[in-house]
Amino acid sequence: MSEARGSFRSTFGAIAASVGSAVGLGNIWKFPQELSENGGAAFLYTYLVCILLIGLPYMLSEFIIGRHTRLSAVGAFKKLTPKGSKWYLIGIISVITSFLILSFYSVIAGWTLHYLYLSIVSFFKEPDSKTIETIYTGFVSGYFKPIFWTFIFIVITAFIVVSGVNRGVERWSKFLIPIMFVLLVCVCAMSVTMPGSSSGLRFLFDFKLSDVTPQVILSAVRQSAFSLSLGMCCMLTYSSYMSRSDSLVKTSLWIITLDAMVAILISVMIFPAVFAVGEQSAIVPGLVFKTLPVIFASMPYGALFTIVLFTLLTIAALTSTMSFMEIIVAYLTGDGKMERKKAVLITSIAALLFGSICSLSITGVKIFELWGTSVYNVSDYLVTNYLLPIGGVGILLFVGWRMKTAIIKQELSSWGKYKLQLINIFIWSVRIVVPSFIIIAHLFELISISQ
Ligand code: PHE
Repeated sequence: MSEARGSFRSTFGAIAASVGSAVGLGNIWKFPQELSENGGAAFLYTYLVCILLIGLPYMLSEFIIGRHTRLSAVGAFKKLTPKGSKWYLIGIISVITSFLILSFYSVIAGWTLHYLYLSIVSFFKEPDSKTIETIYTGFVSGYFKPIFWTFIFIVITAFIVVSGVNRGVERWSKFLIPIMFVLLVCVCAMSVTMPGSSSGLRFLFDFKLSDVTPQVILSAVRQSAFSLSLGMCCMLTYSSYMSRSDSLVKTSLWIITLDAMVAILISVMIFPAVFAVGEQSAIVPGLVFKTLPVIFASMPYGALFTIVLFTLLTIAALTSTMSFMEIIVAYLTGDGKMERKKAVLITSIAALLFGSICSLSITGVKIFELWGTSVYNVSDYLVTNYLLPIGGVGILLFVGWRMKTAIIKQELSSWGKYKLQLINIFIWSVRIVVPSFIIIAHLFELISISQ
Protein backbone atom coordinates (compact mmCIF):
# COMPACT_ATOMS: atom_id res chain seq x y z
CA MET A 1 0.00 0.00 0.00
CA SER A 2 2.67 2.48 1.08
CA GLU A 3 4.70 1.63 -2.02
CA ALA A 4 1.79 2.50 -4.28
CA ARG A 5 1.21 5.79 -2.44
CA GLY A 6 4.90 6.67 -2.53
CA SER A 7 7.01 7.84 0.38
CA PHE A 8 9.80 10.25 1.23
CA ARG A 9 13.18 8.69 0.52
CA SER A 10 15.12 10.48 3.26
CA THR A 11 14.67 12.31 6.54
CA PHE A 12 16.07 15.42 4.90
CA GLY A 13 13.46 15.12 2.15
CA ALA A 14 10.67 14.75 4.70
CA ILE A 15 11.89 17.79 6.62
CA ALA A 16 12.38 19.87 3.46
CA ALA A 17 8.86 19.09 2.24
CA SER A 18 7.29 19.89 5.61
CA VAL A 19 9.32 23.07 6.02
CA GLY A 20 8.21 23.95 2.51
CA SER A 21 4.60 23.63 3.52
CA ALA A 22 5.11 25.56 6.74
CA VAL A 23 7.13 28.41 5.28
CA GLY A 24 4.76 30.46 3.23
CA LEU A 25 3.07 33.79 2.92
CA GLY A 26 2.30 33.38 6.63
CA ASN A 27 5.97 33.89 7.45
CA ILE A 28 6.78 36.57 4.95
CA TRP A 29 3.59 38.51 4.88
CA LYS A 30 1.67 37.89 8.09
CA PHE A 31 4.51 37.55 10.58
CA PRO A 32 5.97 41.06 10.09
CA GLN A 33 2.46 42.47 10.27
CA GLU A 34 1.78 40.68 13.57
CA LEU A 35 5.13 41.88 14.89
CA SER A 36 4.37 45.48 14.13
CA GLU A 37 0.86 45.30 15.59
CA ASN A 38 1.95 43.48 18.73
CA GLY A 39 4.97 45.39 19.93
CA GLY A 40 7.89 43.78 18.10
CA ALA A 41 10.12 41.86 20.52
CA ALA A 42 7.22 41.08 22.89
CA PHE A 43 5.51 39.23 20.06
CA LEU A 44 8.67 37.60 18.79
CA TYR A 45 9.62 35.99 22.11
CA THR A 46 6.05 35.01 22.95
CA TYR A 47 5.83 33.42 19.51
CA LEU A 48 8.96 31.37 20.17
CA VAL A 49 7.46 30.06 23.41
CA CYS A 50 4.17 29.28 21.62
CA ILE A 51 5.73 27.24 18.85
CA LEU A 52 7.31 25.01 21.47
CA LEU A 53 4.45 24.71 23.93
CA ILE A 54 1.55 24.76 21.44
CA GLY A 55 3.10 24.06 18.05
CA LEU A 56 5.17 21.02 19.03
CA PRO A 57 2.41 18.89 20.63
CA TYR A 58 -0.01 20.04 17.93
CA MET A 59 2.34 18.97 15.13
CA LEU A 60 3.15 15.68 16.86
CA SER A 61 -0.57 14.91 17.03
CA GLU A 62 -0.89 15.18 13.25
CA PHE A 63 2.30 13.16 12.80
CA ILE A 64 1.12 10.35 15.07
CA ILE A 65 -2.11 9.84 13.11
CA GLY A 66 -0.51 10.17 9.69
CA ARG A 67 2.52 8.01 10.16
CA HIS A 68 0.63 5.34 12.04
CA THR A 69 -2.04 4.87 9.41
CA ARG A 70 -0.01 5.82 6.33
CA LEU A 71 -3.24 7.05 4.80
CA SER A 72 -4.79 10.31 3.62
CA ALA A 73 -6.66 12.68 5.94
CA VAL A 74 -10.00 10.91 5.51
CA GLY A 75 -8.68 7.34 5.29
CA ALA A 76 -6.61 7.78 8.45
CA PHE A 77 -9.61 8.64 10.64
CA LYS A 78 -11.69 5.87 9.07
CA LYS A 79 -8.99 3.33 9.80
CA LEU A 80 -8.67 4.35 13.43
CA THR A 81 -12.37 4.37 14.29
CA PRO A 82 -15.15 1.78 14.12
CA LYS A 83 -17.66 1.81 11.24
CA GLY A 84 -20.33 4.45 11.69
CA SER A 85 -18.06 6.80 13.62
CA LYS A 86 -18.08 10.42 12.47
CA TRP A 87 -14.45 11.31 13.22
CA TYR A 88 -13.60 11.02 9.51
CA LEU A 89 -15.45 14.32 9.04
CA ILE A 90 -12.30 16.01 10.34
CA GLY A 91 -10.58 14.62 7.24
CA ILE A 92 -13.38 15.84 4.99
CA ILE A 93 -13.18 19.32 6.54
CA SER A 94 -9.45 19.35 5.90
CA VAL A 95 -9.89 18.42 2.24
CA ILE A 96 -12.43 21.25 1.82
CA THR A 97 -10.11 23.64 3.67
CA SER A 98 -7.20 22.63 1.45
CA PHE A 99 -9.24 23.25 -1.65
CA LEU A 100 -10.34 26.73 -0.52
CA ILE A 101 -6.87 27.70 0.61
CA LEU A 102 -5.27 26.35 -2.57
CA SER A 103 -7.62 28.51 -4.62
CA PHE A 104 -7.27 31.83 -2.85
CA TYR A 105 -3.62 31.43 -1.85
CA SER A 106 -2.78 30.82 -5.51
CA VAL A 107 -4.19 34.24 -6.37
CA ILE A 108 -1.69 36.03 -4.13
CA ALA A 109 0.99 33.54 -5.14
CA GLY A 110 0.24 34.53 -8.74
CA TRP A 111 0.79 38.18 -7.81
CA THR A 112 4.20 37.34 -6.38
CA LEU A 113 5.14 35.55 -9.56
CA HIS A 114 4.02 38.53 -11.63
CA TYR A 115 6.05 40.88 -9.43
CA LEU A 116 9.05 38.61 -9.71
CA TYR A 117 8.73 38.82 -13.47
CA LEU A 118 8.33 42.61 -13.32
CA SER A 119 11.26 43.05 -10.96
CA ILE A 120 13.46 41.16 -13.37
CA VAL A 121 12.36 42.74 -16.64
CA SER A 122 11.72 46.39 -15.91
CA PHE A 123 9.92 47.43 -12.82
CA PHE A 124 12.77 48.88 -10.82
CA LYS A 125 14.53 50.95 -13.41
CA GLU A 126 12.99 54.14 -12.04
CA PRO A 127 10.99 53.21 -9.04
CA ASP A 128 9.16 55.81 -7.05
CA SER A 129 6.13 55.37 -4.89
CA LYS A 130 3.79 56.83 -7.49
CA THR A 131 4.90 54.50 -10.26
CA ILE A 132 4.72 51.51 -7.98
CA GLU A 133 1.27 52.48 -6.70
CA THR A 134 0.09 52.85 -10.31
CA ILE A 135 1.50 49.45 -11.23
CA TYR A 136 -0.14 47.88 -8.19
CA THR A 137 -3.55 49.42 -8.77
CA GLY A 138 -3.41 48.72 -12.49
CA PHE A 139 -2.54 45.09 -11.86
CA VAL A 140 -5.03 44.21 -9.13
CA SER A 141 -7.90 46.06 -10.75
CA GLY A 142 -7.40 44.31 -14.09
CA TYR A 143 -9.47 41.19 -14.73
CA PHE A 144 -7.27 39.15 -16.95
CA LYS A 145 -3.69 39.51 -15.68
CA PRO A 146 -4.19 38.31 -12.09
CA ILE A 147 -6.13 35.29 -13.37
CA PHE A 148 -3.42 34.57 -15.90
CA TRP A 149 -0.72 34.53 -13.17
CA THR A 150 -2.93 32.44 -10.87
CA PHE A 151 -3.27 29.98 -13.74
CA ILE A 152 0.50 29.83 -14.24
CA PHE A 153 1.01 29.24 -10.54
CA ILE A 154 -1.51 26.42 -10.37
CA VAL A 155 0.00 24.80 -13.47
CA ILE A 156 3.50 24.87 -11.91
CA THR A 157 2.11 23.38 -8.69
CA ALA A 158 0.28 20.66 -10.64
CA PHE A 159 3.38 19.88 -12.69
CA ILE A 160 5.31 19.18 -9.47
CA VAL A 161 2.57 17.30 -7.62
CA VAL A 162 1.73 15.06 -10.56
CA SER A 163 5.24 13.59 -10.53
CA GLY A 164 4.52 11.93 -7.20
CA VAL A 165 5.50 12.38 -3.59
CA ASN A 166 9.10 11.43 -4.09
CA ARG A 167 9.94 12.69 -7.58
CA GLY A 168 7.70 15.75 -7.25
CA VAL A 169 7.20 17.19 -3.80
CA GLU A 170 10.32 15.80 -2.12
CA ARG A 171 12.75 16.43 -4.96
CA TRP A 172 11.61 20.01 -5.54
CA SER A 173 11.53 20.83 -1.83
CA LYS A 174 15.06 19.53 -1.41
CA PHE A 175 16.12 21.84 -4.22
CA LEU A 176 14.09 24.97 -3.38
CA ILE A 177 14.29 25.15 0.42
CA PRO A 178 18.11 25.37 0.66
CA ILE A 179 18.07 28.07 -2.06
CA MET A 180 15.56 29.99 -0.02
CA PHE A 181 17.75 29.87 3.09
CA VAL A 182 20.87 30.97 1.25
CA LEU A 183 19.05 33.93 -0.29
CA LEU A 184 17.57 34.91 3.04
CA VAL A 185 20.85 34.86 4.90
CA CYS A 186 22.51 36.96 2.18
CA VAL A 187 19.88 39.68 2.14
CA CYS A 188 19.73 39.76 5.94
CA ALA A 189 23.45 40.28 6.13
CA MET A 190 23.10 43.18 3.68
CA SER A 191 20.14 44.63 5.52
CA VAL A 192 21.71 44.72 9.00
CA THR A 193 24.87 46.39 7.77
CA MET A 194 22.93 49.34 6.41
CA PRO A 195 23.24 52.69 8.20
CA GLY A 196 20.28 53.36 10.48
CA SER A 197 19.31 49.73 10.84
CA SER A 198 19.84 49.56 14.60
CA SER A 199 16.44 50.96 15.61
CA GLY A 200 14.76 48.26 13.54
CA LEU A 201 16.81 45.60 15.26
CA ARG A 202 16.02 47.06 18.70
CA PHE A 203 12.31 46.93 17.87
CA LEU A 204 12.73 43.27 16.99
CA PHE A 205 14.91 42.07 19.83
CA ASP A 206 14.65 44.44 22.83
CA PHE A 207 12.29 42.58 25.07
CA LYS A 208 10.16 44.05 27.87
CA LEU A 209 8.02 41.62 29.80
CA SER A 210 5.43 44.31 30.48
CA ASP A 211 4.64 44.45 26.74
CA VAL A 212 3.36 40.87 26.76
CA THR A 213 -0.40 41.37 26.96
CA PRO A 214 -3.12 38.70 26.57
CA GLN A 215 -3.68 40.00 23.05
CA VAL A 216 -0.01 39.40 22.20
CA ILE A 217 -0.21 35.85 23.55
CA LEU A 218 -3.39 34.96 21.68
CA SER A 219 -2.10 36.44 18.42
CA ALA A 220 1.07 34.39 18.85
CA VAL A 221 -0.97 31.22 19.42
CA ARG A 222 -2.92 31.77 16.19
CA GLN A 223 0.13 32.71 14.18
CA SER A 224 2.10 29.69 15.40
CA ALA A 225 -0.62 27.24 14.31
CA PHE A 226 -1.07 28.93 10.95
CA SER A 227 2.60 29.27 10.22
CA LEU A 228 3.26 25.61 11.03
CA SER A 229 0.46 24.52 8.65
CA LEU A 230 -1.51 22.92 11.46
CA GLY A 231 -5.22 22.21 11.57
CA MET A 232 -5.86 20.94 8.08
CA CYS A 233 -4.12 17.57 8.04
CA CYS A 234 -1.26 18.90 5.98
CA MET A 235 1.35 17.58 8.39
CA LEU A 236 -0.78 14.45 8.82
CA THR A 237 -0.63 13.77 5.08
CA TYR A 238 3.10 14.46 4.82
CA SER A 239 3.86 12.26 7.82
CA SER A 240 2.05 9.39 6.13
CA TYR A 241 5.00 9.39 3.71
CA MET A 242 7.63 9.44 6.45
CA SER A 243 9.77 6.49 7.38
CA ARG A 244 8.95 4.43 10.48
CA SER A 245 12.49 4.86 11.74
CA ASP A 246 12.47 8.69 11.72
CA SER A 247 12.09 10.35 15.10
CA LEU A 248 8.86 12.33 15.01
CA VAL A 249 10.01 14.59 17.83
CA LYS A 250 13.31 15.45 16.14
CA THR A 251 11.61 15.97 12.78
CA SER A 252 9.06 18.31 14.37
CA LEU A 253 11.75 20.26 16.17
CA TRP A 254 13.62 20.73 12.90
CA ILE A 255 10.50 21.97 11.13
CA ILE A 256 9.58 24.32 13.96
CA THR A 257 13.09 25.74 14.22
CA LEU A 258 13.51 26.28 10.49
CA ASP A 259 10.06 27.84 10.13
CA ALA A 260 10.81 30.25 12.98
CA MET A 261 14.21 31.02 11.49
CA VAL A 262 12.61 32.09 8.24
CA ALA A 263 10.11 34.33 10.05
CA ILE A 264 12.93 35.93 12.06
CA LEU A 265 15.27 36.32 9.10
CA ILE A 266 12.51 37.89 7.03
CA SER A 267 11.87 40.36 9.83
CA VAL A 268 15.58 41.09 10.08
CA MET A 269 15.50 41.80 6.37
CA ILE A 270 12.41 44.01 6.52
CA PHE A 271 12.45 45.99 9.77
CA PRO A 272 15.90 47.58 9.57
CA ALA A 273 15.08 48.71 6.03
CA VAL A 274 11.69 50.05 7.06
CA PHE A 275 13.09 51.83 10.12
CA ALA A 276 16.11 53.14 8.25
CA VAL A 277 13.82 55.17 6.00
CA GLY A 278 11.53 56.07 8.90
CA GLU A 279 8.46 54.25 7.62
CA GLN A 280 7.32 52.36 10.69
CA SER A 281 3.73 52.72 9.59
CA ALA A 282 4.52 50.77 6.44
CA ILE A 283 3.85 47.31 7.82
CA VAL A 284 0.38 46.95 6.39
CA PRO A 285 -1.05 44.31 4.04
CA GLY A 286 0.27 46.21 1.00
CA LEU A 287 3.78 46.07 2.47
CA VAL A 288 5.20 43.49 0.14
CA PHE A 289 3.74 44.80 -3.08
CA LYS A 290 3.68 48.54 -2.46
CA THR A 291 5.99 49.68 0.29
CA LEU A 292 9.00 47.42 0.18
CA PRO A 293 9.79 47.96 -3.50
CA VAL A 294 9.85 51.72 -2.83
CA ILE A 295 12.00 51.37 0.28
CA PHE A 296 14.38 48.96 -1.37
CA ALA A 297 14.67 51.26 -4.37
CA SER A 298 16.22 53.94 -2.17
CA MET A 299 18.87 51.54 -0.90
CA PRO A 300 22.12 50.39 -2.46
CA TYR A 301 21.49 47.21 -4.46
CA GLY A 302 17.77 47.89 -4.07
CA ALA A 303 16.78 46.27 -7.35
CA LEU A 304 18.62 43.13 -6.32
CA PHE A 305 16.87 43.12 -2.94
CA THR A 306 13.53 43.31 -4.67
CA ILE A 307 14.28 40.44 -7.02
CA VAL A 308 15.39 38.35 -4.05
CA LEU A 309 12.29 39.29 -2.06
CA PHE A 310 9.94 38.13 -4.80
CA THR A 311 11.99 35.01 -5.46
CA LEU A 312 11.67 34.15 -1.77
CA LEU A 313 7.95 34.81 -1.79
CA THR A 314 7.43 32.72 -4.88
CA ILE A 315 9.40 29.74 -3.52
CA ALA A 316 7.66 29.99 -0.14
CA ALA A 317 4.22 30.14 -1.74
CA LEU A 318 4.95 27.33 -4.21
CA THR A 319 6.14 24.84 -1.61
CA SER A 320 2.95 25.61 0.35
CA THR A 321 0.55 25.27 -2.58
CA MET A 322 2.22 21.93 -3.35
CA SER A 323 1.18 20.74 0.10
CA PHE A 324 -2.43 21.94 -0.27
CA MET A 325 -2.74 20.12 -3.57
CA GLU A 326 -1.11 17.00 -2.14
CA ILE A 327 -3.74 16.74 0.63
CA ILE A 328 -6.53 16.71 -1.94
CA VAL A 329 -4.71 14.39 -4.34
CA ALA A 330 -3.84 11.96 -1.52
CA TYR A 331 -7.53 11.82 -0.66
CA LEU A 332 -8.71 11.32 -4.24
CA THR A 333 -6.10 8.72 -5.10
CA GLY A 334 -6.24 6.86 -1.78
CA ASP A 335 -9.87 6.93 -0.82
CA GLY A 336 -11.39 7.60 -4.22
CA LYS A 337 -8.82 5.29 -5.84
CA MET A 338 -8.42 7.73 -8.69
CA GLU A 339 -5.34 7.81 -10.89
CA ARG A 340 -2.87 10.49 -9.74
CA LYS A 341 -2.87 12.33 -13.09
CA LYS A 342 -6.63 12.55 -13.12
CA ALA A 343 -6.75 13.68 -9.48
CA VAL A 344 -4.24 16.47 -10.15
CA LEU A 345 -6.10 17.56 -13.27
CA ILE A 346 -9.49 17.72 -11.54
CA THR A 347 -8.05 19.54 -8.52
CA SER A 348 -6.24 22.06 -10.71
CA ILE A 349 -9.24 22.86 -12.87
CA ALA A 350 -11.49 23.28 -9.85
CA ALA A 351 -8.91 25.44 -8.06
CA LEU A 352 -8.45 27.55 -11.14
CA LEU A 353 -12.20 28.12 -11.45
CA PHE A 354 -12.63 29.05 -7.81
CA GLY A 355 -9.33 30.98 -7.79
CA SER A 356 -10.61 33.05 -10.74
CA ILE A 357 -13.77 33.85 -8.81
CA CYS A 358 -11.64 34.91 -5.82
CA SER A 359 -9.43 37.02 -8.05
CA LEU A 360 -12.38 38.74 -9.76
CA SER A 361 -13.99 39.36 -6.40
CA ILE A 362 -10.91 41.31 -5.26
CA THR A 363 -11.17 43.36 -8.44
CA GLY A 364 -14.64 44.36 -7.32
CA VAL A 365 -16.88 42.31 -9.64
CA LYS A 366 -20.19 42.67 -7.85
CA ILE A 367 -21.61 39.20 -8.53
CA PHE A 368 -18.66 37.74 -6.68
CA GLU A 369 -19.48 39.49 -3.46
CA LEU A 370 -20.96 37.79 -0.42
CA TRP A 371 -22.29 39.62 2.60
CA GLY A 372 -20.94 42.89 1.22
CA THR A 373 -17.37 41.68 0.84
CA SER A 374 -15.33 39.74 -1.71
CA VAL A 375 -15.53 35.95 -2.05
CA TYR A 376 -11.77 36.07 -1.46
CA ASN A 377 -12.21 37.70 1.95
CA VAL A 378 -15.07 35.37 2.89
CA SER A 379 -12.99 32.29 2.03
CA ASP A 380 -9.96 33.60 3.90
CA TYR A 381 -12.12 34.45 6.93
CA LEU A 382 -13.88 31.09 6.88
CA VAL A 383 -10.63 29.13 6.62
CA THR A 384 -8.61 31.13 9.16
CA ASN A 385 -11.25 31.66 11.79
CA TYR A 386 -13.45 28.55 11.52
CA LEU A 387 -12.18 25.64 9.43
CA LEU A 388 -8.55 25.57 10.60
CA PRO A 389 -9.33 25.83 14.34
CA ILE A 390 -12.25 23.36 14.10
CA GLY A 391 -10.11 20.83 12.22
CA GLY A 392 -7.19 21.40 14.56
CA VAL A 393 -9.15 21.00 17.77
CA GLY A 394 -10.74 17.86 16.29
CA ILE A 395 -7.29 16.37 15.58
CA LEU A 396 -6.03 17.21 19.07
CA LEU A 397 -9.07 15.82 20.87
CA PHE A 398 -8.93 12.69 18.74
CA VAL A 399 -5.31 12.00 19.66
CA GLY A 400 -5.83 12.99 23.29
CA TRP A 401 -9.07 11.18 24.04
CA ARG A 402 -9.67 8.56 21.37
CA MET A 403 -6.34 7.12 20.36
CA LYS A 404 -4.84 4.28 22.33
CA THR A 405 -1.93 5.45 24.46
CA ALA A 406 0.01 2.42 23.24
CA ILE A 407 -0.14 3.72 19.64
CA ILE A 408 0.93 7.18 20.74
CA LYS A 409 3.90 5.70 22.59
CA GLN A 410 4.79 3.45 19.65
CA GLU A 411 4.85 6.40 17.26
CA LEU A 412 6.65 8.82 19.56
CA SER A 413 9.37 6.27 20.25
CA SER A 414 9.42 4.94 16.66
CA TRP A 415 8.88 1.41 17.91
CA GLY A 416 11.27 1.68 20.80
CA LYS A 417 14.10 3.22 18.78
CA TYR A 418 14.00 6.46 20.79
CA LYS A 419 13.48 7.04 24.50
CA LEU A 420 10.03 8.24 25.50
CA GLN A 421 10.04 11.39 27.56
CA LEU A 422 7.36 13.59 29.08
CA ILE A 423 4.63 11.38 27.64
CA ASN A 424 2.04 12.32 30.26
CA ILE A 425 2.69 15.99 29.76
CA PHE A 426 2.21 15.45 26.03
CA ILE A 427 -1.08 13.60 26.49
CA TRP A 428 -2.57 16.17 28.85
CA SER A 429 -1.46 19.05 26.72
CA VAL A 430 -3.23 17.65 23.65
CA ARG A 431 -6.26 16.71 25.71
CA ILE A 432 -6.76 20.08 27.37
CA VAL A 433 -4.09 22.76 27.18
CA VAL A 434 -3.53 23.14 23.43
CA PRO A 435 -7.23 22.85 22.40
CA SER A 436 -8.15 25.42 25.07
CA PHE A 437 -5.58 27.89 23.82
CA ILE A 438 -6.70 27.42 20.21
CA ILE A 439 -10.36 27.87 21.10
CA ILE A 440 -9.77 30.94 23.28
CA ALA A 441 -7.45 32.54 20.72
CA HIS A 442 -10.02 32.19 17.94
CA LEU A 443 -13.00 33.21 20.04
CA PHE A 444 -11.06 36.29 21.08
CA GLU A 445 -10.34 37.07 17.43
CA LEU A 446 -13.98 36.55 16.38
CA ILE A 447 -15.22 38.80 19.18
CA SER A 448 -12.75 41.53 18.36
CA ILE A 449 -13.62 41.36 14.64
CA SER A 450 -17.34 41.68 15.37
CA GLN A 451 -16.84 44.76 17.54
N1 PHE B 1 1.94 27.62 6.81
C1 PHE B 1 1.55 28.27 5.60
C2 PHE B 1 2.10 29.69 5.61
O1 PHE B 1 2.76 30.09 6.51
C3 PHE B 1 0.06 28.35 5.41
C4 PHE B 1 -0.73 27.15 5.80
C5 PHE B 1 -1.70 27.24 6.75
C6 PHE B 1 -0.50 25.93 5.21
C7 PHE B 1 -2.42 26.15 7.16
C8 PHE B 1 -1.24 24.84 5.58
C9 PHE B 1 -2.18 24.93 6.57
O2 PHE B 1 1.88 30.40 4.70
